[in-house]
Amino acid sequence: MEQYAIKGGNPLVGEVEISGAKNAALPILAAAIMTDDPVLIENMPDVRDTNVLLQALESIGAVVDRIDRHTVRINASMIHDHVVDNDYIKKIRASYYLVGALLGKYRKAEVALPGGCHIGARPIDQHIKGWEALGATVEIAHGMIVTEAKELKGRRIYLDVVSVGATINIILAAVLADGQTIIENAAKEPHVVDLANFLNCMGANIKGAGTDVIRIKGVTKLHSTEYAIIPDQIEAGTFMFAAAVTKGDVTVKNVIPKHLESISTKLLEIGCEIEESDDAVRVVAAKPLTHTHVKTLPYPGFPTDMQPQMTVTLGLSKGTSIVTESIFENRFRYVGELVRMGASIKVEGNTAIIDGVSRYTGASISVPDLRAGAALVIAALAAEGISVLDEIQYIERGYEDFELKLQSLGAQIERIESERELQKFKLKIG
Ligand code: UD1
Repeated sequence: MEQYAIKGGNPLVGEVEISGAKNAALPILAAAIMTDDPVLIENMPDVRDTNVLLQALESIGAVVDRIDRHTVRINASMIHDHVVDNDYIKKIRASYYLVGALLGKYRKAEVALPGGCHIGARPIDQHIKGWEALGATVEIAHGMIVTEAKELKGRRIYLDVVSVGATINIILAAVLADGQTIIENAAKEPHVVDLANFLNCMGANIKGAGTDVIRIKGVTKLHSTEYAIIPDQIEAGTFMFAAAVTKGDVTVKNVIPKHLESISTKLLEIGCEIEESDDAVRVVAAKPLTHTHVKTLPYPGFPTDMQPQMTVTLGLSKGTSIVTESIFENRFRYVGELVRMGASIKVEGNTAIIDGVSRYTGASISVPDLRAGAALVIAALAAEGISVLDEIQYIERGYEDFELKLQSLGAQIERIESERELQKFKLKIG
């Protein structure tokens, strides 16, 4: 079993290149099968979730040509199956984008119900409501989402909750439908906009992505395109908080600073200095950090995917902070591990009350999910002494070369597989 061995205490210093956004790449990969022409996608992150989805595309007959590590060409003209079911696909949340894409293109789909991170119940009622409104029948049977439509007709759909997944899945099902679909109370996340831009490059007619009303005029056919995925807002934010919590000086490069505004604002509030340029943001944590209050919200609010990293940082910031999680009900599961490292945090319902302490201490830690895993890594980088983190496969779902990028900033982190390798790590770092 692979683990991370981490010796904390070094400020992270330097520059780090941010990869393509996982949460944009996933729907874009699904959308790529909606044309029979080849599609070239650049800035594809090389992470487990995107690789699993690429395998799923191959399993139904799409030809996936990996031009280089971050460029992939997909040719879906040979797709022969609309059933996607394997052990891997169940593990990723975004498998359900194949429902929207296959339903939109072939008018039928059978896809294993999604897994993903254990951060809450994560219902898909709004996805189903959208597909049904467009004219599909939807059934959940034997662990599969089974859907079919004689025809898909554009409709006005109001989402009862702002859902990234439902907004994307309705867009996918609507681009090749007859007539106009209007999604009201749509999610405004950058990855929703990126998907819409990608589909528009393929000949779709989508307007309003990035606002809460999206208008999709159905077209009869999509065509070939070349497209580069946006940088990963959450990966960038994770490195920005890593700079803050280790009292470092890190520049995240290849980013869109606008996407990072809610993160930069909170870092400024707690005492960091922020310097922005066209495609980079520098975070300097020269002064002691202070408390603040944060509530997670849909974009442009503070992202729920940054909540654990924020909490870890506030745990070492002077005073009492309050973090409210308003998106997922089970997203403080990592707090117990953080308390074992010395944090003083009490969770009541969807609120964490954090009394800043002056130090964390290294411990053996189990990673509960993707983003909490990344947050616990940065906690360990700030802690005194050595930490060993288990279940790091969660982190690999969404962070490319995480430990290598951290090492390039001076972090003492290594992937280990045995007690012997841990001893070697300890000897090496002295
Ligand atoms: C996506 C992201 C995830 C991020 C989340 C919120 C991907 C692959 N994952 O997840 O990293 O944390 O957005 O920014 O992009 N809900 C319903 N019914 C539905 C759908 C959602 O009640 O049919 C609820 C959810 O339980 C949650 C809220 O709506 O409380 C938001 O969820 P949603 O935006 O759909 O998250 P995901 O798309 O699953």
